[in-house]
Parts: sequence; structure tokens; C-alpha cells
Amino acid sequence: MRLTCTTAGPAPFVAEVAGVDFSHPVDATTFAEIRAALDRYAVCVFRNTGLDDARHIAFSRLFGTLERAPSLFGSKRRCAHPELFDASNLDANGAILGEGRRRLYNKGNALWHTDSSFNPHRASYSLLLAHEVPPAGADTEFADMRAAYRALPRSMREKIEDLVCEHWLWHSRMLAGYPPPTEAERAAKPPAYHKLVQTLASGERTLYLARHATGVVRAVRWHQPGDLVIWDNRCTMHRATPFEDTVYRRDMRRTTVLEPLP
Ligand SMILES: [Fe+2]
Repeated sequence: MRLTCTTAGPAPFVAEVAGVDFSHPVDATTFAEIRAALDRYAVCVFRNTGLDDARHIAFSRLFGTLERAPSLFGSKRRCAHPELFDASNLDANGAILGEGRRRLYNKGNALWHTDSSFNPHRASYSLLLAHEVPPAGADTEFADMRAAYRALPRSMREKIEDLVCEHWLWHSRMLAGYPPPTEAERAAKPPAYHKLVQTLASGERTLYLARHATGVVRAVRWHQPGDLVIWDNRCTMHRATPFEDTVYRRDMRRTTVLEPLP
């Protein structure tokens, strides 16, 4: 099987990938081609995959060990599988969220970020699958952090070479309007520390930071249920754009692959 990658603009880092048959488990040859596409482009879009929760998780496992979604809002979760992060605007019963902590928490996703950078064990890939897409808005925008690093003058590169950043989940949530975290929330997600300048497996250097907009921006438009986007958290940031979230349903579920330990 040969995949087709369609890109737009100079120095593309987002590709729309066609030619994968998701109705059967993805075979080793096809998976190797998907990995190669992700090595070349940091963000890959697969349209109308027809994946369900179980096959979404099984496909994600090909990339490595999956992070378990924390249960920050009580024990009742809408998604039964512990590997699924609920990136929807829906409550445990499937109704649109009203005003409240969970809705404010979700607002943090509109800030530039890298999934799980607030954990000591970083994430490599995220695989976000659409189940219900609102009629307008709610694109996911991406920024290439390798391009951001390349754009820095040499003097700045030298200055930041050894810097370490503190990443704290509650910092971005509070920036987005979430109230100060409770003791239990603080204990559940303490800060994590990561080098600002990182070297990728390819040898390229990149910036690892969140909440700050730098670099080239590209938007992925969600067309229909079954659309899947995979991105590499080690060299991109992303953010959600607004939509009428108290009117329309947006049901998105994500798996997150843990970076292999050295
Ligand atoms: Fe995210």
C-alpha cells in the first residue's frame, strides 16, 4: 500500500494522508508508512476513518504505551475506556456542559499547549478522533516549534540553551479563567520540569514550551465524524478555536502515547 500525503504552502508540517484502510487492523507495512509520514510531517490528518473507541485505542497502541486519562471531575466518566481523554463539551450523561468547573477547565485548551507537558513523563503522539463535529468553528490550530527554534537569532539560541521550564496544569487553567485549584487538584497534578530546547530523534532542535504563540500556524478543519488527527507533541503546540459550545455538540476523544523511556 502506498499512502498519499497532500500538503499546502511552503515548509509544510501538516499533511492530509489518504490510502489507509481503517476497517481492518493496520498492518505493519502501512503502519511503517504512517510513522514515516509523521517523521516527515509533525501533524497528519486522516479523513472519515470509521474508527470506534476500541479500534481507536488498538491503533493508538501501535505507537507505544498509552497514558491513562486522569479522573479530575469525580468518578463518573463519559468514556468508559481509561485510555480515552474526553475532549468534548459533554457531561457524563452526554448533555452539553453548562457553566461550571468542567467547562472552565476546557477553556484552557484554547491556549497554545502541548498535551501532557505538565507531566514528568512526556507524551509523544496524540490521536484525536472526531465523533460529532459542530457546524462551524472548533478547528484545531498547530504551530511548528522546530520552525520557531530555527527563527531565533543565534544570540537567543545561546541564551536559552540550558533553560528549564516549569509546566503546571493549573497555571494554564487559571489563565483561562479556572478558579485557583483545590488542595486535591494541586496534589493530583504537581508541576513538572522540562528542558526548553530539546533535540529530536532526527537531530533537529525544537522548543518545548506551552501557552506561548510562536512559529507557523496551520489549522485543521474537522469535516465529519471519523476524522482523526495525529500530532507529535515533542515538536508542535496546538489550540482549539472557539465555537458555540453551549449550543452545538462537539464529541472528540483522544488517546495519548507516552514517550519511550531512555
Ligand atoms: Fe490538547
